[in-house]
Parts: sequence; C-alpha cells; structure tokens
Amino acid sequence: MARGSFVSFEGIDGCGKSTHIRRLAEALEAEGLEVVLVRDPGTTRLSEAIRALLLDPANTDMAKECELLLYEAARAQLVAEIIEPALARGAWVLSDRFLDSTTAYQGGGRAISDRFITEANALGSLGLTPDLTLVFDLDVEEAARRRCADPDRIEREGDDFARSVREAYLALAASEAPRVRVIDASGTKGQTFALVRDAIEAYRAEPSHG
Ligand code: TMP
Repeated sequence: MARGSFVSFEGIDGCGKSTHIRRLAEALEAEGLEVVLVRDPGTTRLSEAIRALLLDPANTDMAKECELLLYEAARAQLVAEIIEPALARGAWVLSDRFLDSTTAYQGGGRAISDRFITEANALGSLGLTPDLTLVFDLDVEEAARRRCADPDRIEREGDDFARSVREAYLALAASEAPRVRVIDASGTKGQTFALVRDAIEAYRAEPSHG
C-alpha cells in the first residue's frame, strides 16, 4: 500500500481556508479516495481539551512558552493517534493548520527564537512535515472583516500581531518552496478554490504523488 498524501492549510485568522478544505475533501472523495480531515490543534479527545485551554479568552495569563508547548502537545497526540495511521493506510490527510502555524504565530507573532521553534516543531510533529502546504494570503484588514464576531484568545491579539504572522507565512513560502505555496485568498470563493485545485493538480502531477 502506497503512503498517503499530507496537505496542510494555513493563513491568518479570517483567511477563509476552512471552507476550501471541506470542498477539496468532497472533490477527492468523489474520486473514490479516502480523505481524513483534521484540525490542529484538536481532533483527538486530548488535543481538543488542549485546544480549549489555548483558545479560551479567559487565559490571559498564559506564558508564550506555555502556549508553544501546548500547541506542540496537541499536535503530537494528533499525529500519533490519527495522522500517521491514516497516511500509513494510504489516505489523503487534509489538516486545518499544522507546524507552520507555530512558526508563523509563536515565531513571527510571539517572537520566540527560531532555534526553539524548530526544536519544538520537530518534537510536536513527531518529525512529520506536510507534503504540500497552502498558505491562504489575505490582507489583515480584510481578514478581520471576514472573522466571526466572537474572537478567541489568539484572535484578540489585534492587527499588528496578525501582520507579523502574515509576514512570517510569506517568508516561509519563500524559504520552503515548493512545499509551501501561497494562494491569493482575496478573490471570490470560486476564484480561490480554482487556485486550490490548480495547486493540488500540480502536486499530483509530480512523480510519486497522487
Ligand atoms: P483555528 O483552528 O480556528 O484556526 O484556531 C486556531 C488558532 O490557534 C488560530 O488563531 C491560530 C492559532 N495557532 C497558533 O497560534 N499556533 C499553532 O501552532 C496552531 C496550530 C494554531
């Protein structure tokens, strides 16, 4: 059995990625492929419990190092319990966020050093890197307009924080091409989804994928 494909979806809060993940999952399932949808942090019982701690707006006292390690803890459980077994049986795993969120938010946003981020990500991901990562890029003001009315702890950080996160994503796309690709998310849902399809088809056209 060939190993599956692992695709992650990234971007600042309000970039609209979740809609496209579901749509892509439906398109791949219509081809008869097994698709496993996950969200990071979350999905498993333990990772959802950690997610609740991370996103609770009441936790204003959380140290940035605690935040970093909780994201990694949630991810390690998700990889061990769901992602690795799914890839081993040949499924497509579509993940709403993964380790690049830590680089962008805790590295770019919270200014934790690259050395700690790299080490923490290596442990929290159990050494797993996505085969393809799509970064949905949108300007910060437009993303703020698209976000839901009840912001979580991270969404409350404000526009300057979001700008640092966006810059970190764009830097990642430049340094980790072709794994990390930018999707312009400023158009209509239809236009953005067409870009997602193109990126997936380009990935599948590479030898040994698809
Ligand atoms: P979301 O699942 O609704 O996107 O919410 C997750 C939030 O957590 C979002 O604001 C991004 C943030 N986050 C980090 O700060 N670091 C991480 O490693 C991950 C996975 C998410």
